[in-house]
Amino acid sequence: MMEKTRSASAIARANIALIKYWGNHDANLRLPANSSISLTLDGLETKTRVSFDDSLPADQIHINGVSADEESRSRVATHLDRIRRLAGISSFAIVESQNNFPSGAGLASSSSAFAALTLAGVVAAGMQPDRKDLSRIARMGSGSACRSVLGGYVIWYAAQSDTESFAEQLAPREHWHLVDLIAIVDRQHKHTGSTLGHSLADTSPLQPARVSDAARRIEICRRAILERDFQELASVVEQDSNLMHAVMLTSTPPLMYWTPQTLEVMRAVYDWRDEGFDVCYTLDAGPNVHCLCTFHHAEEVKNRLEHIPGILEILEAHPGEQAQLIEVEGNPSH
Ligand code: DP6
Repeated sequence: MMEKTRSASAIARANIALIKYWGNHDANLRLPANSSISLTLDGLETKTRVSFDDSLPADQIHINGVSADEESRSRVATHLDRIRRLAGISSFAIVESQNNFPSGAGLASSSSAFAALTLAGVVAAGMQPDRKDLSRIARMGSGSACRSVLGGYVIWYAAQSDTESFAEQLAPREHWHLVDLIAIVDRQHKHTGSTLGHSLADTSPLQPARVSDAARRIEICRRAILERDFQELASVVEQDSNLMHAVMLTSTPPLMYWTPQTLEVMRAVYDWRDEGFDVCYTLDAGPNVHCLCTFHHAEEVKNRLEHIPGILEILEAHPGEQAQLIEVEGNPSH
């Protein structure tokens, strides 16, 4: 007889994009305008349990112990619908998700959330997809989540079809010990979330230039990672982040994520590199500054960041592992 409850728990880490994803050519399938590269981060983790239960009248979503707001609930339920369709099941689920990073830090990340939800969800639904399919399914929940399915240095291929757009590992986390020091300058939740931001990318006259040059930046970044060439990495990472923010600033309506403190940290990082420190900055759709540095320079960079007024907190993250299953119950095939 079929088990009544099938549940699975998974853990996934957030990732920081070194070459950014910004804009989709198919928003429904989340097929991105350009390929991207990221580093999976330990220390910024989401743990999620998904329990399918035939007796539930609807999906129930709890995030950090409280019932999710309507926007998050419907986004998670839509992703569960995808999983149910693929697995051929119809039961609703209880989803319990916990982030270990400070929820007020303005870092609420859909990358770790949808990677953990996808892995726990597909296994609880009785499927055993390989990493490539897992990444593809996670992509439809949140683009950046397809990269958090893998550990270490990761590339996500832009493609014309669903089957060809997935993420793959470029190098394991042991390959290069970079440190991400995240300077929190603003704890507010972002005004315009990434999903809406992606839909505005094409309103900027700069987006075609950003996209058509992406293959060049991907190649430089890929080579810099494989050869552990920090100087090459630093210049392409900063240029790519600046290009994305140039598109954001010139969209209609314009998206302005920086604060005066953001700019102050960016300038300081640039000067420190001039002095000989291995450090560069990159920003997502928010004001907080990710300062990437080599392990040997991380302590000095952290010391210096601590002396910049207006930084509320510094989070430290190291290269992280792929998404992993923690527990499976009620499904004899696992
Ligand atoms: C600026 O993956 O959060 O962080 O696909 O709508 O969930 P959705 O967007 P999301 O976008 C991430 C944008 C970014 C750059 C990046 O991570 O590549």
